[in-house]
Amino acid sequence: MDRLEIRRPDDWHVHFREGAVLRAVVPFTARQFARAIVMPNLVPPVTDGARARAYRDEIGAALPPDSGFEPLMTCYLTDGLDPAVMEDDVFTAAKLYPAHATTNSAHGVTDIAALSPVLERMQRIGKPLLIHGEVTHPEEDVADREAVFVETVLTGLRRDFPELRIVLEHVTTADGVAFVEEADGPTAATITPHHLVIDRNDLLVGGIRPHLYCLPVAKRRRHRDALRRAAVSGSPRFFLGTDTAPHAVSDKESACGCAGIFCAPTALEVYAEVFDEEGALDRLEAFASLNGPAFYGLPPNEARIVLERSPNEGPGPLDVGDETILPFRAGERLEWRLGGS
Ligand code: DOR
Ligand code: ZN
Repeated sequence: MDRLEIRRPDDWHVHFREGAVLRAVVPFTARQFARAIVMPNLVPPVTDGARARAYRDEIGAALPPDSGFEPLMTCYLTDGLDPAVMEDDVFTAAKLYPAHATTNSAHGVTDIAALSPVLERMQRIGKPLLIHGEVTHPEEDVADREAVFVETVLTGLRRDFPELRIVLEHVTTADGVAFVEEADGPTAATITPHHLVIDRNDLLVGGIRPHLYCLPVAKRRRHRDALRRAAVSGSPRFFLGTDTAPHAVSDKESACGCAGIFCAPTALEVYAEVFDEEGALDRLEAFASLNGPAFYGLPPNEARIVLERSPNEGPGPLDVGDETILPFRAGERLEWRLGGS
């Protein structure tokens, strides 16, 4: 198959940042996707409706004319957050960051048990809980943090809030995949393009590649392959979420480099490549355009996009003021190209 026409996809996990970076990166997402779940880990974080509306306006102002793109806003859960905030229509979902799990998570939750009133409210009104699923104990090995979270936190959350809609964001392990496949109640996971492609050897063998560093960190090959199987399985519990997370090159190529991969410029092309390699192009539409809306209770998009097999070199670096941001697979061969709609 050299040409694939599918419903316009959505991205169920993006980081747009603010200001000049936001203005530079938003068009890459709007080019491919009709909607995106926008992560709230700004400084300070998005924890109330007024800030979410202002942020939504900032994204709206950065959109190319007639993009038709709709940002879906999320609330950053903090210790002591008023459950009533969950009732605000501006929020499509809420994001749980265990404190200090990742970029800008210092205000995250320190005691998940104390979050019960918020989770009860979310369960009652049907607001999805999006989870960065890693424990943060300093002694826990970075490669084990997701599996330990699944076992020691997520399993209990699933049991205690049986109707709560839960998304394990950017799943990276066979353990996370198995949990999502087997859990009772409405449970799903997003999968990034980069975690479908890289394993930890790509990050560390032959030199350290800071532009492939993100959290949760890429794992062993067998975990990557479990993600590939889940993505192409056709299960409605797995859907597209890029976790595109732009950082300046100077912050990535540093003695203490930031976590995050700017994958938006090549996301759909990379997903298509993976589904093609797996002989599953006929399942890309479910993963990219149908499963996410079904889980969120939204209609799938009516517009369509075309992907063509057309080897190309991919995008170059993106200049933002004095800084540069490097896209995933920049300057590398891509097998697929996003065509007109
Ligand atoms: O690598 C990551 N970068 N993982 C996250 O969870 C957050 C993100 C960011 O905001 O940079
Ligand atoms: Zn993220």
